[in-house]
Amino acid sequence: MMASRSLREGFHREFMTFFERAERTRRWSVFDDVPWERLAEVPRATDLALAAETFCGIEMFLPDYLQAHLSLLVGDYGQAWFSAHWGHEEARHALALREYLLRSGQRSEARMQDFADAVMARRWRPPYEVPRQMVVYSAFQEMTTFVSYHHQRRLAQQANDPVLAEIYRLIGRDEMAHCRFYQRILALHLDEDRTGTLTDLAHVVRTFRMPAHELLPSPRERETVRTAGFGRGAFITEVVLPVLNGLGLTRHDLYRHAPVGTVER
Ligand SMILES: [Fe+2]
Ligand SMILES: [Fe+2]
Repeated sequence: MMASRSLREGFHREFMTFFERAERTRRWSVFDDVPWERLAEVPRATDLALAAETFCGIEMFLPDYLQAHLSLLVGDYGQAWFSAHWGHEEARHALALREYLLRSGQRSEARMQDFADAVMARRWRPPYEVPRQMVVYSAFQEMTTFVSYHHQRRLAQQANDPVLAEIYRLIGRDEMAHCRFYQRILALHLDEDRTGTLTDLAHVVRTFRMPAHELLPSPRERETVRTAGFGRGAFITEVVLPVLNGLGLTRHDLYRHAPVGTVER
């Protein structure tokens, strides 16, 4: 279903704001902006390497994420341009982590190739079919990745790994910008259809799952990476509430628009 003309005009304006800010303040290069000259300081920390590989793997489902994005938009350049742009930034995330693992000697080319093959053999499928629910999902998902990378950055700092810590900082800043964009799109949806949008928000809060962890090879080994600093409680306090807050909403706005007993209190 095509969004209304006024919504599409809004998407376009939001995209241009996002794009201008990204070009002016958030451009970074895998080759020039990561302190590769400090590779000698990188400690041998198997848990940090496993986490970097895990997040790299999640970012490597990009072809599926992009397909989901693009199939949701019909006749909407604002969102199509955003998807293309967003895809470029997400590609940079996977490539920076991949380069880190290779250049620091913690993974071989052959192992990364096997890993890529294993990821490619699996398919990630979008969890919602309604475009507006996917916007809600994307806002939460981006905020979740921001929180995860923020946590990983602290672990890298504690382990005195200046290279990985900087990569996580750069990636985390992108994830926050992505979350903000989806928040702005949600604000437009709220203006157009408040009740419907709140109902979608309540539905996604109740059913949200992070993508792709369980699709990676050796998921059991990666379980500690998935839960590092991140229980269900943290999902509510560090993801849902800040996103709602950014929209000028509280959880009470959700209760009113959800079937009784379906929103966790
Ligand atoms: Fe990312
Ligand atoms: Fe992102």
